[in-house]
Amino acid sequence: MKLFDVYPLYDITPVQGNDVYVTDDKGTTYLDLYGGHAVISIGHSHPEYVKAVSEQVSMLGFYSNAIQNPLQVQLAQKLGAASGCDDYELFLCNSGAEANENALKLASFQTGKARVIAFKNAFHGRTSATVAATDNRNINAPINAQHQVTFLELGDTDTLEKELQKGDVCAVIVEFIQGVGGLDEATAGFYETTDRLCKAHGTLLIADEIQCGYGRTGDFFAFAKYDVTPDIISIAKGMGNGFPVAGILIHPSITAKHGMLGTTFGGNHLACAAAIAVLDVLGEEKLMENVSEISTYFLEKAKAIPQIRQVKGRGLMLGLEFDFEVGDLRKKLIYDKHIFTGGSSNKKLLRILPPLTIKKEHIDTFFAALEDVITNA
Ligand SMILES: Cc1ncc(COP(=O)(O)O)c(C=O)c1O
Repeated sequence: MKLFDVYPLYDITPVQGNDVYVTDDKGTTYLDLYGGHAVISIGHSHPEYVKAVSEQVSMLGFYSNAIQNPLQVQLAQKLGAASGCDDYELFLCNSGAEANENALKLASFQTGKARVIAFKNAFHGRTSATVAATDNRNINAPINAQHQVTFLELGDTDTLEKELQKGDVCAVIVEFIQGVGGLDEATAGFYETTDRLCKAHGTLLIADEIQCGYGRTGDFFAFAKYDVTPDIISIAKGMGNGFPVAGILIHPSITAKHGMLGTTFGGNHLACAAAIAVLDVLGEEKLMENVSEISTYFLEKAKAIPQIRQVKGRGLMLGLEFDFEVGDLRKKLIYDKHIFTGGSSNKKLLRILPPLTIKKEHIDTFFAALEDVITNA
């Protein structure tokens, strides 16, 4: 059987990971400034994580959601403490799209309404409701057209208010820093007005923190900078450091009913062990403080490169915008300098999403490589 060919692939085969590095089958080691798409939070194959996952799988890897699973309770407690959202409730699932799909469904259950407001350039996943709320017609199939979604400009308060006044919107879903779309974010005023308008019009605010959350900005959640109270917060990526685990944090104003959400694999023992280890390491190694320190260092170094038009994003979710398309630059960084970086739908933007354990010396390596590639282009 052949693989269904949906991914354009770089010709590299990583076989081993160690903190901020991955090594391929030929023995070449790469500096990972992409984190497998913002997934690697505490570093590849962190020893505490390896131990926790290995011990758990040797004991009990999985049982269904029909039994008591104290690891889920432990994870919820640790997540509440780490995020400051300890009054929220946790529903566990397996991927970012599934988290947002459940968030949208829950908003619709709660409000009895069906229309969703999303923003231009947003990416929320590839399942039915999430792909409909993703501003990319190329990845929407005719079957996804059943959803009622209105896309607004990020920052357009007037139109948002007019749409919410119609009274049929179950949710406004927003990435406080857009990921795939290219690191755009709105002002505090816009986010805080959105929160207020949602509450005034019986609409739930969903914070999609799948990429910008889990410590990546130096705060646990990107929305923490603002005076907002999302009704639902979706999490994935960094949560499992590569193990597929995701979830939604649900405000206590929303009441659970048996059977309203569910999943076979979500919150299984192995996933919980991985996610607990991530939270433990995040705290023990003070990784959010590291994010802020390294981010400041990165921004300082970026100033010395005149070809960089603008640095977007926050913490270790950064985008370097050039006045040229970065496809070739990315390839040279990978093949000549052995550094992974990311792209986005903004073709002039190089995305930087390293493990949160990264140190100044790695940033030095990156900037030396970048300068060399740009100078010799
Ligand atoms: C902000 C955001 N939401 C949702 C998703 C979907 O997550 P997944 O690919 O795990 O389904 C992504 C993935 O890139 C994302 O960046």
